[in-house]
Amino acid sequence: IKKIGVLTSGGDSPGMNAGIRAVVRTCAFHNIECVGIVQGYQGMIRGEFIPMDARSVKGIINKGGTILKTARSKDFRTPEGRKKAYDNLKKEGVDALVVIGGDGSFTGAMVFSSEFDMPVMGIPGTIDNDIFGTTHTLGYDTALNTVVEVIDKIRDTASSHDRLFFIEVMGRDVGHIALNVGVAGGAEEILIPEENLGLDRLLESLHRSKNSGKSSSIVIVAEGDKIGKNVFELKDYVDEHMSEYEVRVSVLGHMQRGGSPSCFDRVLASRMGVKAVESLLEGKSNYMVGLLNDVMSLTPLDQAIKGQSKINLELLRVSDIMTT
Ligand code: F6P
Repeated sequence: IKKIGVLTSGGDSPGMNAGIRAVVRTCAFHNIECVGIVQGYQGMIRGEFIPMDARSVKGIINKGGTILKTARSKDFRTPEGRKKAYDNLKKEGVDALVVIGGDGSFTGAMVFSSEFDMPVMGIPGTIDNDIFGTTHTLGYDTALNTVVEVIDKIRDTASSHDRLFFIEVMGRDVGHIALNVGVAGGAEEILIPEENLGLDRLLESLHRSKNSGKSSSIVIVAEGDKIGKNVFELKDYVDEHMSEYEVRVSVLGHMQRGGSPSCFDRVLASRMGVKAVESLLEGKSNYMVGLLNDVMSLTPLDQAIKGQSKINLELLRVSDIMTT
């Protein structure tokens, strides 16, 4: 391998820049060339490459977002798009790829490397943490800290006005963020995509909390929660069935994806970048690097995306006990 291409794809997450920096500097350390591919697979199809040396990634370890930009590419889902992308890589002399992204990006990488002779290595970058083969994806820890900080602020208003707040957090398919910030933020209930706790239980628990002397409450709702109602519908439901609370809704949205990465995410990104490049140099392909028991490990890409990333159900019980 003489030249590695690095790209970020899918939703951005804090730590992606630190990951790019790690890939570029590991390439420099091993005296191989590195190019950045702009806007993920879209830039590969357009042939937009930027040569990157060790100094080109200075001052980015602390920056959120991704300097390479990112996209969810529709064109890369077509054989024609992938063929164009491959031709551009060959023209540029790229002979291996590091893809920083989530499950959609890994699916693209897998299809691509099965069609063409192009070794690929994945670095999991998404705030959702919905990838198997790593306890943490890049950006997850930062997002948790961002959300907890906001919950603390909303709690000030909740307790000053004796209000009930439904706070929607990201997590289309998994409840990792909701569960953890729920416990850390002292939520009364946590609604997640994996379990349907039911509306009856929600009302019951809100009644119980009121009767136990609590004057304000916070309920964390994951975007894709299984109860099947969004935060605004939940507010209407509670308004209809309980008069004890003044209810407000807060949808946190994309602020959860931004900001300077935490120390944990910066270190994780640095370790993952080194592991990804060195694994390619050892002749490995079609793996994702991950953190398991504090050791860098490799998981085949198809398992990383197909294998279920399981939430820790113990946290639901801990949350129940904490709301006593
Ligand atoms: O996958 C990361 C994520 O932030 C999800 O939690 C969320 O559902 C989705 O991306 C939002 O995507 P977009 O920024 O494309 O609207």
